[in-house]
Amino acid sequence: MPQDQEIAELIADAREQVLYLQELGVEALSVELPAAVPKAKRDRLSRPAMDTANDSYEMPEHHSVAPRESSTLPNAHSRPPTNPGGTDRRAAGSRLAVLPSLTKRTPATLPVENAAIAQGPPLKPPLEPPAAAEASMFGDISPTLSETSETIESIRAEIGDCTRCSLHKLGRKQIVHSTGNFNADLMFVGEAPGGDEDEQGFPFVGRAGQLLTKIIEGIGLKREEVFIGNINRCRPPGNRAPEPDETAACRPFILKEIAVVKPKVIVVLGATAAHNLLQVKTPISKLRGSFHDYFGVKVMPTFHPAYLLRDPNKKREVWEDMKKVRDFLNSK
Ligand code: URA
Repeated sequence: MPQDQEIAELIADAREQVLYLQELGVEALSVELPAAVPKAKRDRLSRPAMDTANDSYEMPEHHSVAPRESSTLPNAHSRPPTNPGGTDRRAAGSRLAVLPSLTKRTPATLPVENAAIAQGPPLKPPLEPPAAAEASMFGDISPTLSETSETIESIRAEIGDCTRCSLHKLGRKQIVHSTGNFNADLMFVGEAPGGDEDEQGFPFVGRAGQLLTKIIEGIGLKREEVFIGNINRCRPPGNRAPEPDETAACRPFILKEIAVVKPKVIVVLGATAAHNLLQVKTPISKLRGSFHDYFGVKVMPTFHPAYLLRDPNKKREVWEDMKKVRDFLNSK
C-alpha cells in the first residue's frame, strides 16, 4: 500500500475512534479531526448502516423499552427520530452513523409467542464448557453447541415462577428474561438485573443499559438486532454480585438460550458473566481483548458498562474489543 494511503487510513481509524469515544461521552477529549480520508475508503464507509437506504432512524438520546405487556420489541425502523433538530453528531456526518454494516441472518425480531425455532432432534442439555484437561483431549476437534429442540418460549416456561435460589425471596419484583432477536449473530450476556431492570422486566434498561445501547450502535447495529441476557434473572439485593449457588441455579438457562440462538459471537460483560460462561477465574482485565471459545462460538469478554460509568477511561478498551467483534462479524 502506498505510504500516503496508509497514513490516510490510519488517520481515518484514529478519527473513527475519537468520534466513538466522544459519542460515549469521554470527557477531556478535545481533538481536531482531520478529514483526510482516501476517496475509496470514504465511498466504502458511506454505505448506510444495515444497508437500509431509507432508514431515517437516529440514535435515541434515551433508549425506550416496550411495555412488558407487549412481547414484540419496538421496530427501530418505524420509530420516529428522537433528534429531529439534527444536533446529533452522528446525524451531522459523523462516521459513527456510517460504520460498516454487519450482515444479518434475519431482519426481524421475533416476538416471544412466534419464536419459530427450528425443531431439532430430541432435547439434549447444552454442554458445559470442558475443563482444560478435557479440552486437550479433543485435540483439533473442538466440541460445538449441541442441537436443541428447545425454544426461548419453552425455556421461559421451564423457568416458570422460579424459586430455585434464594433470590426469589430477597426482594425481586419479577424475573428478567433475555430479550432481543432470537436469531441474532451477536449476543450480550451480563451479570444480573439491577433496580431498573427489576422494575421494568427487561435486561439492561438502566444507565448501564443505555450505555450498552450506544456500544451496540457504535458497531453499526441496532439494539433490537442483538440478543441480550444475564447469567442471573433476578435482582440480587442492593445490586450485589450473585453468589455461586445463585449463578449455578440460573446459568443453565442462558446456556440453553445460547444453544437456541446459536450466535456467532457472545460478548460477556464483566467478570461474573465471563467467569460463569468460560468457567475460568482469570481477571476480566486479562480475559478481555481477545476471543475465547464456547463450543465453537467466539466469546469476547469486556468490561461491564456499569464499570465504564464509574471509570470512563476504560471505554477505549471496550471500543477496541467491540471493533474486533465487528470485524469478525463482517468477515463472516
Ligand atoms: N447489569 C447487568 O449485568 N445486567 C442488567 O440487566 C443490568 C445491569
